[in-house]
Amino acid sequence: MIRRNVIVLGCQWGDEGKGKIIDLLMEQANAVVRFQGGNNAGHTIVVNDHKTVLRLIPSGILRSHVRCILGNGVVVEPLALKVEIDQLEYSGIEVKSRLTIADACPLLLKSHILLDMARETGALAIGTTKKGIGPCYEDKIARRGLKLSDLRDLNTLKTKLDALLDYHNFLLTHYYHQTPIDLESTYAELCQQAIWLVPLLTDVPLLLAAMIAKHDKILFEGAQGSLLDIDHGTYPYVTSSNTTAGGACTGTGVGPLAMDYVLGITKAYTTRVGNGPFPSEQDNEYGALLAKRGNEFGSVTGRPRRCGWLDLPVLRRALLLNSVSGLGIMKLDVLDDFAEIFICTHYRLGDTLLTMAPSDPNDFAACIPVYQCLAGWQEPTLGLKHYEQLPDLAKRYVAFISEHVGLPLDLISTGPERQQTILLREIFH
Ligand code: GDP
Ligand code: IMO
Ligand code: MG
Repeated sequence: MIRRNVIVLGCQWGDEGKGKIIDLLMEQANAVVRFQGGNNAGHTIVVNDHKTVLRLIPSGILRSHVRCILGNGVVVEPLALKVEIDQLEYSGIEVKSRLTIADACPLLLKSHILLDMARETGALAIGTTKKGIGPCYEDKIARRGLKLSDLRDLNTLKTKLDALLDYHNFLLTHYYHQTPIDLESTYAELCQQAIWLVPLLTDVPLLLAAMIAKHDKILFEGAQGSLLDIDHGTYPYVTSSNTTAGGACTGTGVGPLAMDYVLGITKAYTTRVGNGPFPSEQDNEYGALLAKRGNEFGSVTGRPRRCGWLDLPVLRRALLLNSVSGLGIMKLDVLDDFAEIFICTHYRLGDTLLTMAPSDPNDFAACIPVYQCLAGWQEPTLGLKHYEQLPDLAKRYVAFISEHVGLPLDLISTGPERQQTILLREIFH
């Protein structure tokens, strides 16, 4: 089977290690396209001890042959993008000549950030990254938002911006009792950003269609994770985009029949940043050890990530939502010290035993995890590159996951470095 167009996405609540794997796989591909989210993402790549955290720039930027594309599903805050480009270019990586951005991307404004921050107070807080992601997507769906294409015509831009800021300022002052944002300075800043941004804009569906026609290999990069999906996640504790595989189509303008493969990424345990239910969370010494060994701090906000055991009902639901073809298990080495490792195999909901996380958020919040305990291997796996080198009990752990979710393993990650990976199957061919 030919595999040229591959979707890589997270099967949990984000931070599964997507960035590391995408960077690794880009050795074999021509282009990478982000399909949703914005600079709420933080994708970490480590090469020769040098760490790069990417927010809006796709995780193929460290590979000089790769074209990096932002699809229309991505919300773009020009200043955040500029800072990221400048930082990368300062460290010697050519970005602007390799970056192409869909003109249909929603434009994320300062007022979106202020609205996000104003809302994130009190008992109803979602625990967002406060990057303005939710308010920007709201404006898109409400059909009042601006698009990057609006930066091409600065006169019309001012009229549209005036109308939008009028609405944002009404909310900011009357509803949230905050200071309003100034039209003239916002407009002036956008005019400045337009100078470098407009030349990068293009009709991305057309570009991708041409690449697909010449049999280029394209990786569709997911941000966040399946349980943060606006439609399928643990609502309302979700992000505001479709993080699941369908988003790769709507967020780039490529039809579903063009997709050849979906690689699902999961940690060997579970983490979550922000609020919301997390059945297998370990608010105890197990969780503390996972956090310590896994260095579980958010790459965008620095917040400590909540940690718990691997949750198979969540994973099964993610595999179902995304038609996942094969699985990548990340951070196996983090479990090296544990004498016993628990896996949540089922949920108990009232008198019912569930194999699959339920769609109803109230039911999900009421689920009690049922665990199976496996013996830990208590040997270092850090940096191992061959399956045969894994201790038998580590082999047993990954085989248990594969068997209990009914999917083959494509790779196992044994450290943050690009090469600290056991590749079991070719992804692109
Ligand atoms: P992403 O958002 O899915 O790209 O994941 P993040 O980059 O936010 O979080 C994953 C973190 O785990 C990063 O700090 C990575 O460097 C690190 N990481 C990735 N794979 C491994 C692994 O196999 N072992 C260890 N110890 N760390 C890893
Ligand atoms: P990557 O791509 C983990 C979480 C936030 C919050 C919720 C909504 O690095 O995996 P938002 O700012 O999107 O409105 O916040 O989603 N969240 C993430 N958690 N990894 C991410 O991205 C996340 N992006 C958003 O913590 O709970
Ligand atoms: Mg991350």
